[in-house]
Amino acid sequence: MISQSAHAKLIIALDVDTKQKALELVEALAGVPGMFKIGSQLFTAAGPDIVREVIKKGAKIFLDLKFHDIPATVAAAGVEATRLGVSIFNIHASGGGEMMKRTAAAVSECAEREGLSRPKVIGVTVLTSSDAIELDQVGISRSPGDQAVLLAQLASDNGMDGVVASPEEISLVRSAAVTSDFIIVTPGVRPAGSEKNDQKRVMTPAEAIARGADYLVVGRPILSAADPESAAENIVREISDGMKASAEAAQ
Ligand code: C5P
Repeated sequence: MISQSAHAKLIIALDVDTKQKALELVEALAGVPGMFKIGSQLFTAAGPDIVREVIKKGAKIFLDLKFHDIPATVAAAGVEATRLGVSIFNIHASGGGEMMKRTAAAVSECAEREGLSRPKVIGVTVLTSSDAIELDQVGISRSPGDQAVLLAQLASDNGMDGVVASPEEISLVRSAAVTSDFIIVTPGVRPAGSEKNDQKRVMTPAEAIARGADYLVVGRPILSAADPESAAENIVREISDGMKASAEAAQ
C-alpha cells in the first residue's frame, strides 16, 4: 500500500507545448502526483490561463518561471503568482538577498490583504544541468555544491521557504544552517536505468528521498514513457521505498 504522503512528494513537469496536451496529461495522471509543474515552455505557449484551468481541475501547481530581475519587478510578479493561486513558485537565489526578501514580503502582504493562500516561495540554487565547467564559463569558480550551499543559505536568510537543489546537494543544503521546515525540491531525478537527457547530476527517486528531498520534480522519464501513468506510479513506489529506508535509518 503506497501512502498519500509518497504521492504528495511527486511533482510532474508539464513540459509540453500546448494547453490541450497539458490538460490531457493532467487528466490521465490525476491523483498520482501531489502537484504539477508549469514552466517556461507551457506558460509561454498557453499563458496564465493554463494555470487557472489546471487548478480548476483540483490539482496543485508549482509555477517554475525562475524569476530573476530587479527586486520591484520580481516582487510584483510574485504578487501575480499569488493571485493565480499557485502552491509554489520560484525565483533565482542568485538574484540576491534584497530581491528575495522583497518578494517574500510582497507575497505575504498580498495573501493577507486579499484573503488568498500564501504560496511557498523557493530559491533556485544551481541548475541541475550545470556542472563545474559551465559555472566557470559564467565566472563562478566555486564547485556546484559550494555554490548551491551559499545560495541556499542566502535564500534561507532572506525569507525563502526552501530551495530547488540537485540530488547531490540535498545533504549539504540540509546541514547548511537552514530551518528544519526549509523545503528542498529536487529535479534531476531518474529512475534506475533510464535516460539522463541533459541532466548532469542525477539520482534515483529512492536515493533522493533518502537524502532528504521533500519533493521530486520529474519530467521526461514520465512524459516520454509509452505509459506515463504507470511510469509515474513506479516513481511513487520508488519514493515510498526511499521513505521507508529513511524511516528505518532513523530508528
Ligand atoms: O525532464 P526532466 O525530469 O529533466 O525535467 C526536470 C524539470 O525540472 C524541467 O522542467 C526543468 O526545467 C526543471 N528544473 C531543473 N533544474 C532546476 C530547476 C528546474 O531541471 N534546477
